Amino acid sequence: MTGTFSRVGVVGLGTMGAGIAEVLARGGLPVVGVEADPDALERGRGHLERSTGRAVKRGRLSEDARREILDRVALSVDFADLGDCDLVVEAVPERLDLKHRVFAELDRVCRADAVLASNTSSLSVTEIAVATGRPAKVVGVHFFNPAPVMRLVEVIGTVLTEPEAVERVAALARDLGKTPVTIGDRAGFVANRLLFGYLNQAAHMLESGHATRDDIDAAMKDGAGLPMGPFTLMDLIGLDTCLQVLEAVYAESRDRRHAPAPVLRELVAAGLLGRKSGRGFYVHDGQERAAEE
Ligand code: 3HC
Repeated sequence: MTGTFSRVGVVGLGTMGAGIAEVLARGGLPVVGVEADPDALERGRGHLERSTGRAVKRGRLSEDARREILDRVALSVDFADLGDCDLVVEAVPERLDLKHRVFAELDRVCRADAVLASNTSSLSVTEIAVATGRPAKVVGVHFFNPAPVMRLVEVIGTVLTEPEAVERVAALARDLGKTPVTIGDRAGFVANRLLFGYLNQAAHMLESGHATRDDIDAAMKDGAGLPMGPFTLMDLIGLDTCLQVLEAVYAESRDRRHAPAPVLRELVAAGLLGRKSGRGFYVHDGQERAAEE
């Protein structure tokens, strides 16, 4: 279905990486999914199986089509298996040292003309790109959670990126049925820069006793027509990710609206990260999490 790339790799198969691998495989591309160890690889396989299984259950996908999608994804713990890919999307946890290690390794194993993309939501794509000997071929490709559902893909070019790499990744996003927007390397890009000021304000409102969690969520869902209220959404995104995005945007903008609400730090320090840990602003039972995956 897609003409811009012929074989795509995904490194890191957590919620976002597995979702991105699913989107690519649904688009007809052969995908190589790489994880650090066999346990993480099995968790990634589980994500893919549950998400496509859910689509079958809802009558959106036939069992045969699901099998074809899953067969298109080759899973591996060996970076060398990415050697034939002409695009690799990295979706490992948001730590610059880890991203540097991954990109240095990708630079070593991938074809010289391969484009290397990061799904970072809070780190500088430029700082990631300089870990490679090919910064002209490094872009940001920022998907939204849940990746199979949300249509936006932000494509980020740095001052070092060649325009062709940005254009090819944006064309791929279009081929996959997504809506790409192309932007420069600024903290929060576009969507998170705007969205997280609002989410943070909701947390401040809760802390100051302005309104309850449930009333704030109901107000934004039923009054502003959003698919979910801010606390439900922060729990979906993950409170650790929320904190990281806010810290990155605040460091660049110095806008007090982005100074993370203390309650976010408190919950993250306590290990209450939202749906993925079973509790955040809400308590989530296992059944609900499995159904949502
Ligand atoms: N994986 C795959 N598909 C999923 C899914 C998931 N995790 N969650 C929901 N879906 C699918 C369902 O299968 C269903 O598909 P169908 O219409 O083809 O049957 C469709 O999405 C709607 O799902 P539901 O009916 O179960 O539930 P809702 O109607 O409540 O939709 C939602 C769920 C799509 C998550 C919706 O509530 C929503 O859009 N919420 C806002 C999400 C959002 O704002 N995301 C962006 C966060 S910011 C971000 O990601 C950036 C990062 O850098 C932090």
